[in-house]
Order: sequence, then structure tokens, then C-alpha cells
Amino acid sequence: MGRLDNKITIVTGSGSGIGKAITLRFAAEGSKVIAVDIDGSQEKVSEETQGEVLPYKCDVSNPDQVSKMINECRKNFGKLDILCNNAGINIAPKRLHEYSIEEWDKVMNVNLRGAFFVMKNSIELMLEGGGGSIVNTSSIGAFRASPMVSAYLASKGAINMLTRATALEYVNDGIRVNAVCPGAVKTPIFDDAPPGFLETLVSQIPMGRLCEPDEVASLALFLASDEASHITGATYIIDGGRSAG
Ligand SMILES: NC(=O)c1ccc[n+]([C@@H]2O[C@H](COP(=O)([O-])OP(=O)(O)OC[C@H]3O[C@@H](n4cnc5c(N)ncnc54)[C@H](O)[C@@H]3O)[C@@H](O)[C@H]2O)c1
Repeated sequence: MGRLDNKITIVTGSGSGIGKAITLRFAAEGSKVIAVDIDGSQEKVSEETQGEVLPYKCDVSNPDQVSKMINECRKNFGKLDILCNNAGINIAPKRLHEYSIEEWDKVMNVNLRGAFFVMKNSIELMLEGGGGSIVNTSSIGAFRASPMVSAYLASKGAINMLTRATALEYVNDGIRVNAVCPGAVKTPIFDDAPPGFLETLVSQIPMGRLCEPDEVASLALFLASDEASHITGATYIIDGGRSAG
């Protein structure tokens, strides 16, 4: 018996990092997982599991592609139980006045508008089926500011409020909406970090190490599952103690 037997899940940004870990964990727990990513990387993820991972190519910032993706889910499964709204990007660090409009829009289009499109279409399908559970991937940056990443932080702050507002809007429809807010997680998002950056980051984490993607997947699994049946509108920090002090 898996904790997600008979569930249908959509995970966005599933080809790498946290999304990949969530995809593999949810599939191992018995869910059919529609693994959504922009670049085809999710094809490989489907080869790494005994569970059911169905790769689907979609740019979450494209409303037509998102609507088509949810319609495919409707047609094939007639329902959607769980959405892990996880796709997100950042750009090279800079101060706010150095952003071009295009750079600002790029971050917002994926992290906020994209999250909105995917939630909107998913909620429509969840309402047809009588409920569901949404786990947004936010960030510790929704609580704590740091310089040079204002667009990213603004997008994640908005995701937290979107989580709380929609939790209240759909509380009587059987739809729970929560967010995981990771600190620094060992994923390719840090591949281009300048020398010494990761060492400095780790030195600020009381546990003395980065978070593993699978540790975020554990939290997402709990929040998505029926075990969290009384939890909605919550924004859970997972940061090795960094924000405790
Ligand atoms: N790694 C961290 O330290 C950290 C910390 C806090 C929050 N997060 C958040 O976790 C989420 C996942 O990040 P990660 O570290 O696993 O990054 P990652 O770069 O390893 O994975 C992100 C995935 O999203 C996909 N993606 C990007 N744009 C997309 C789009 N328009 N449509 C569909 N898919 C798209 C990418 O192709 C990639 O596979 C993001 O929302 C990120 O902001 C990460």
C-alpha cells in the first residue's frame, strides 16, 4: 500500500532538482505522476522509476500549453488529485535598477504567472472531481530578504500569499493549498554559482549542510497526502534551522 495509491498528480519542473525528487517519491507511493517540464528532461526521470511517470512537455508560462495539458489530464483520467506547482527560475544576481524589463518579466512569467495559470486550470478540474491538494514550491526567500535577487524574492513572496488566499477561497470545496519554503537545496539551480558562494551559504545553515531534494519531497508528500487533512494555507519552512535564529 502506498500513501498515494489511486491518486493522479501533476508535478511541474519535474525534470530536475526538487521537482524530480517529488516526481520519483510520489510515483513510489503509488500515484500516477504527470511529469511536466519545458525541456524534455522529464523523459529521463520516467526511466528511473518502477512507478507510473508520464512525461509531458509544457511551458508553464504559456497559458495555451497549460490549458492543453490540464485538458489532457481531464480526458485521460477524469480528475486531478494533487498539483505540485514547482517550476521556478532565477537569473544572474543584480540590483533592482540593473534589471531589464525583460529579465523581470522572465522571472515573474514562470514563477508567478505560470504558477497562477497552472493553479487556475488545475482548480477547475479539481472542482469537477470534488477536491484536491495543491503544494506550491515557494522559498525561504518569501520570509527573509537578501540582496541581488529582488525579482525572485518578490515572486516567492507572492506565491505565499497566493497559497494563503486560495486556501481560504477553496476551503469549502475540499481543496487544500499549502507551500513548501526551502532554504538552500542541493540542485542544479546552483550550478553557475560563483566560487565560494556555496561554502558561504552552508556556513549560514545551523545543520551545516544543504538540504537534499528528497527532504523537500518528504515534506511535499506529507502536505499532499491525506495525512495533512487539517492543514491548509500553511507555508512550511525547511531550511536546516537557518531562519530559527
Ligand atoms: N534549490 C534551492 O535552493 C531552492 C530553494 C528554494 C526554492 N526553490 C524552488 O524550488 C523549485 C525547483 O527548483 P530547483 O532548485 O529544483 O531547480 P532546477 O533548476 O533543478 O529545476 C527546475 C525545473 O523547472 C523547469 N522549468 C523552468 N522553467 C519552466 C517552465 N517555464 N515550464 C516548465 N518547467 C520549467 C526546468 O527545466 C527544471 O527542470 C523552484 O520553484 C525554485 O524557486 C529552490
